[in-house]
Amino acid sequence: MSDNELVLSINNLTIGYETGLVYGINLDINVGDVIAIVGPSGIGKTTLLRTIAGLVKPLSGSIYCNAPKRGGIGYIPQRLGLVRHTSVYHNVDLGARSGTRFFSEPTTWFKRRNTRVIDAIDRMGLSEKINEPVRRLSGGQQRRVATARTLAQRPKLILADEFLSELDDDNISVVLDAVKEYMVKSESAMIIVEHNIKRASEISDRLLQIKDGKLTDYDPEDLRRQLIAKYGVEVLS
Ligand SMILES: Nc1ncnc2c1ncn2[C@@H]1O[C@H](COP(=O)(O)OP(=O)(O)OP(=O)(O)O)[C@@H](O)[C@H]1O
Ligand SMILES: [Mg+2]
Repeated sequence: MSDNELVLSINNLTIGYETGLVYGINLDINVGDVIAIVGPSGIGKTTLLRTIAGLVKPLSGSIYCNAPKRGGIGYIPQRLGLVRHTSVYHNVDLGARSGTRFFSEPTTWFKRRNTRVIDAIDRMGLSEKINEPVRRLSGGQQRRVATARTLAQRPKLILADEFLSELDDDNISVVLDAVKEYMVKSESAMIIVEHNIKRASEISDRLLQIKDGKLTDYDPEDLRRQLIAKYGVEVLS
């Protein structure tokens, strides 16, 4: 794997809507990095991911994403954004379509796309639901459809907003293993937003927090205090 290959570079970025939410963000992400962002509700975590995904205009500063010849940035939204009346296959195919380049031979193009869709659905343990309309799936199954859609896109950078919510421990392992395998195989990086700090610290190599309008490294002492308060024991050494 080509370590230190820059995937995302954020310089002096200020995000928000009518008014600013988070100011002066600087962040570089390389291939293989998994960054987790924590912080209380309403602080701007989703807004940051949406801004990186190009869905919200930055108030100032710059975002550079290095994803040539690939599916670019894959976004697993907090509210999923699935087409609920169509099948699992159709929803995952939307990701595959947006991430596949058109080859000169349309049959080859279609076959590759189809393989990616089937593979992503299989990895998420949803093969038996492939033709089921999404609205008939459980909350956790719908989250897995959204994850499959993003994997089928083959992104260089995955942005995942609370993507493990509503999943039981077995399904969390299925989803995490699939995403990790994808990341190793396809030399990509990931930013997750995760309200569960313990889980965020287990999944990521670097934990960031949004506090007082700034994105900073998570204060480990702060983390320790919160974990002790929550679990009553020293969880991290
Ligand atoms: N489309 C929008 N237009 C204007 N303001 C918005 C919009 N979306 C969110 N906000 C506001 O921006 C702030 C940050 O919202 P955001 O969704 O980024 O929070 P969050 O940290 O993801 O919270 P949560 O943990 O609850 O998901 C909130 O005060 C919210 O009301
Ligand atoms: Mg949010």
